[in-house]
Amino acid sequence: MITAADEVHADVLIEHGRVVALAAPGTQEWTAERVIDASQKYVIPGGVDAHTHMELPFGGTFASDTFETGTRAAAWGGTTTIVDFAVQAKGEPLRAGLDAWMVKADGNCAVDYAFHMIMSDVNESTLREMPKLVELGVSSFKLFMAYPGVFYSDDGQILRAMQVAADTGGLIMMHAENGIAIDVLVEQALGRGETDPRYHGEVRKALLEAEATHRAIQLARVAGSPLYVVHVSAREAVAELAAARDMGLPVFGETCPQYLFLSTDNLAEPDFEGAKYVCSTPLRPREHQAALWRGLRTNDLQVVSTDHCPFCFTGQKELGRGDFSKIPNGLPGVENRMDLLHQAVVEGHISRRRWIEIACATPARMFGIYPQKGTIAPGADADVVVYDPHAIQVLSAETHHMNVDYSAYEGKTITGQVETVLSRGEVIIDQRKYTGHAGHGVFVPRGLCQYLS
Ligand code: URP
Ligand code: ZN
Ligand code: ZN
Repeated sequence: MITAADEVHADVLIEHGRVVALAAPGTQEWTAERVIDASQKYVIPGGVDAHTHMELPFGGTFASDTFETGTRAAAWGGTTTIVDFAVQAKGEPLRAGLDAWMVKADGNCAVDYAFHMIMSDVNESTLREMPKLVELGVSSFKLFMAYPGVFYSDDGQILRAMQVAADTGGLIMMHAENGIAIDVLVEQALGRGETDPRYHGEVRKALLEAEATHRAIQLARVAGSPLYVVHVSAREAVAELAAARDMGLPVFGETCPQYLFLSTDNLAEPDFEGAKYVCSTPLRPREHQAALWRGLRTNDLQVVSTDHCPFCFTGQKELGRGDFSKIPNGLPGVENRMDLLHQAVVEGHISRRRWIEIACATPARMFGIYPQKGTIAPGADADVVVYDPHAIQVLSAETHHMNVDYSAYEGKTITGQVETVLSRGEVIIDQRKYTGHAGHGVFVPRGLCQYLS
């Protein structure tokens, strides 16, 4: 069994959906309705993906995974909890957005789910609503320094939301890119006839991610609030986070598999294929990857989430043919995260325990659901994965379960594969057969970030 803290040989006893006991193999005379033989396999906690966007409305279309298809794919990939983003529509209360997302998810999920709240309209009324959402178990709020006119908040709005977060214990999650400057560069690029997907990466400059990260950190310091920066991709942004953490500030960073394994080489693929890799922050030149891996090892980055936000190549990504700024932003990945990070173990980037820490335990602690989620220990939900570390698989759209017509990792060989998955004690993947059902997953109300006193 592997947790963030331990690697031990153990039998795991599960009753009524919870882990009730661990014991050295064969030392206890337990009787059980079912015994799952995991010898030669790893027994790991179900993954916690703290950043997904099922059915997200974006760029005139919707992310192609519903809560039903996306959580089923998550189960196939060994993820048993997702934290998705409810969206506040401009001019509407936060509560209306949360209620709408609750309806989308309710009765449809194969695994458990929780919500963060995207604030697209920070004003007196939505600021007053924030403490109420924290009480309802939605204790984190995403703000955008990017996407002017859509999700964008200005520095004053950000400061005000951070002040409320400081008072209530909420966590501000920041999309840190200078969207005002990026929009100027987009207009200039299009004016020069630079319309291909690769220009998406060129205009969304690493320095504009770093500048926004720096600004977000300073605003959080002024407000006295913690800060969690999402989808960090630029080495210069990692340096800003590391400097803040060296000062002892409560600043946290997340990266995603696409930034660790893909690069601007993918964005430059010919025949508009680069559109498959358009997301924001954008993929960076491959030299940035070393800083991300190092940040994960030194704990300057704490979490790997997917930012799963799939759009089919046909009919969705194609909306941006002739104008890269119209390509819906986002990549599929909820099914691939645990495997890609195991591959990182195989390749020596991280240790086995760090794999579980960044993919299960830390996201659970960061978002207030540990030890219910993210570990295997008496009292925890029995979200357990039997993982075969020796199986060889080739990632492909032909075989994945996400509702999207391409894989960002097509043809990539991975050592390791999920074999069996339990969610609250129910077997939902049984030796690579899906045995779960829509509606098994329930809403998980969250407490406050557990890294703050
Ligand atoms: O490209 C991305 N990341 N799409 C999803 C929305 C966001 O900003 O996280
Ligand atoms: Zn974002
Ligand atoms: Zn996102």
